[in-house]
Amino acid sequence: MPVCNRDFLYSVFSHLHGPSLPRPCVESYTTYVRLLITADIHYNHPRSRKLADALIDEMNQAGGEGVLVVGDTGVGDGDAIEQALVRFTVPGPRLFVAGNHELWTNGPDSYRLYREELPRRVRAAGWHWLEDEPFVGEGFAIVGSVGWYDYTLAEPALGIPERFYAAKVSPGAAERLSEFRSLLADDGDLSAEAREVVARWNDGRFVKLHREDQAFLEELLDRLKGQLDALRHVPRVIAAIHHLPFAELLPPRHSAQWDFAKAYLGSRRIGELLLRYPNVQQIYCGHSHFAAEATIGHIRAINIGSGYRVKRYEVLELGD
Ligand SMILES: [Fe+2]
Ligand SMILES: [Fe+2]
Repeated sequence: MPVCNRDFLYSVFSHLHGPSLPRPCVESYTTYVRLLITADIHYNHPRSRKLADALIDEMNQAGGEGVLVVGDTGVGDGDAIEQALVRFTVPGPRLFVAGNHELWTNGPDSYRLYREELPRRVRAAGWHWLEDEPFVGEGFAIVGSVGWYDYTLAEPALGIPERFYAAKVSPGAAERLSEFRSLLADDGDLSAEAREVVARWNDGRFVKLHREDQAFLEELLDRLKGQLDALRHVPRVIAAIHHLPFAELLPPRHSAQWDFAKAYLGSRRIGELLLRYPNVQQIYCGHSHFAAEATIGHIRAINIGSGYRVKRYEVLELGD
């Protein structure tokens, strides 16, 4: 039986944002939620969309009492995100976390898209923008963040200097792309192996944050920390973070081109923050499209492992 626990929620959010904000209207559940969790629907991608339709239809029949999507439902431009969300008929709370693909746009400003337009669109679709408002139930809470990267998960064996990761091109790609030649002006720090890596991370083309990746991550971690501090009294907290919070969830070594992408899969700092909170019991992430599970300290970390070729979902039983 759902009840709207507005007073408790208001105490959380007035702490986070100041008392001038209107009271959030979020339903919480007194007893039990059977939450269905997926990620990386990639609904704008034609091949992925067929699999996504089948996955969502399967989830709709799975007896869920709530649904959580952990990023990369679709790119920010167009209405692929809304098209995917409207297909869900799972009753109960519908919780949304953005991924890096939600920040992809041909427009000038991903940051504004992420902070203003996407929350408005997701709420208009009847979903809960988890990043700004944790979902709080009886004895549990769910927090969410896109997470981001700071190259702390980069593969050291590649020997690629940080300026290439910041530009989101490998040394071999910079040699082939005139706009990145300046990265090679002082190339005494490049090994022959590093020069052979030819790869790009497409966030560099479609994500326009107007701040460094580390600064964006810092902002996200500050917001997440404020939420976790306000939820210290809650016995059980679940974190839904699109990017990987732990190196233990990384895919195994692959080709140099694939290993270049590890720099963009997440950040150790996300996990370090979450480990400081004894009530954070589980973390769900996506992004790498590689299913993985690990126990780090007191936290069970699960990468759902949905991707363009395979779609998966997890079931989480919450409450009594
Ligand atoms: Fe993805
Ligand atoms: Fe992603």
